[in-house]
Amino acid sequence: MSKPLLQVLAHQTITPPPIWFMRQAGRYLPEYRALRADTGTFLDCCYTTDVAAQITLQPLKRFAFDAAIIFSDILVVPHALGLSLSFKENHGPVLQQVVNQVDLEALHFDETILRPVYEAIHLVKAQLTEKQTLIGFIGAPWTICAYMLEGKSSQRYLSAKTWAKTHPAYMAQLLEIVEQALASHAINQIEAGCEVIQIFDSWAGVLSGAELMDWSIASIARIVSKIRHTYPKIPIIVFPRGVNEHYPTYAKELASINALGVDYDMDVSNLVDKIDLPLQGNLHPQLLCDDLPAALRATERLLDVMKGHPFIFNLGHGILPQTPISHVEAIIQKVKQVKS
Ligand code: CP3
Repeated sequence: MSKPLLQVLAHQTITPPPIWFMRQAGRYLPEYRALRADTGTFLDCCYTTDVAAQITLQPLKRFAFDAAIIFSDILVVPHALGLSLSFKENHGPVLQQVVNQVDLEALHFDETILRPVYEAIHLVKAQLTEKQTLIGFIGAPWTICAYMLEGKSSQRYLSAKTWAKTHPAYMAQLLEIVEQALASHAINQIEAGCEVIQIFDSWAGVLSGAELMDWSIASIARIVSKIRHTYPKIPIIVFPRGVNEHYPTYAKELASINALGVDYDMDVSNLVDKIDLPLQGNLHPQLLCDDLPAALRATERLLDVMKGHPFIFNLGHGILPQTPISHVEAIIQKVKQVKS
């Protein structure tokens, strides 16, 4: 097994560490903007097989990334559950809300709309080199439920949390429906050729105490075991954004996963000795965008702290659309120069 990313996910320390960026395909690339303008909406791009495949490969044509992540979105799963979905320009997602039991009972996972995603995975896989790894992904159940209950992005997801707390039986039912659909989507991506699954819990950070345990951690644990029931050895990365001091709890409760993604708020030097899993992260995307010298210094420090530990170099969240391409090149060059 000689793919650097897979080696790190098997707990090996690789020098230089493998590198890829969350949202590495996207608006900071002129070739993405051009193809997007020719194709239509963001969702049209996701659901047009050859376009999704081309966009996935765009960053690998330009940069020495060690992985491709299939171009799609976490919200295609609630879409396939029957909720209408659109992305308004400069506005983010608009998802049909689930408000009552009638809405809950209407949810039915129809995989057919996701076929173009699986076909794109197949196309991309055939074009990767023997060193490059293909990553598939899903949202974590809590983050998906938060969007379904809120209908859009929100700062603190207060109405989602209030609904979940005041309707515990419905929340349990919703989680179960969503977990089943997410596990199926992950399994279908693996079947199509993905070699790793990353689970994005982008809104885990709004939870605390029992909510964090029940809605984020326990629910992710059920997904992991569902996926592993079909694919026992598939490497899984979990990225619980914003959970601060709870990162070690994720590592402890989800000990069978293969890496923990760390967000930009964390100082990895506080985690590296507390966590027995490979880490992935966590250069600040704003720093990468705005201040290359500072980003290079932060990169050096990160590499230094993670030296001797299994590590995947990444950002602490998605790359920003205004990021200069030269900054991305400079960081990759810096990482690739690391010597053992
Ligand atoms: O990483 C990659 O290159 C793969 C593609 C990818 C996208 N979304 C493409 C995208 C991945 C892995 C995601 C995950 C995703 N989607 C998350 C989890 C990660 C995170 O950001 O916390 C979330 C919360 C979403 C939901 C979502 N999709 C939002 C809130 C938005 C609007 C914000 C924005 O950046 O515009 C999207 C749209 C989206 N997803 C775009 C892309 C490239 C921009 C669409 C465009 O071209 O206009």
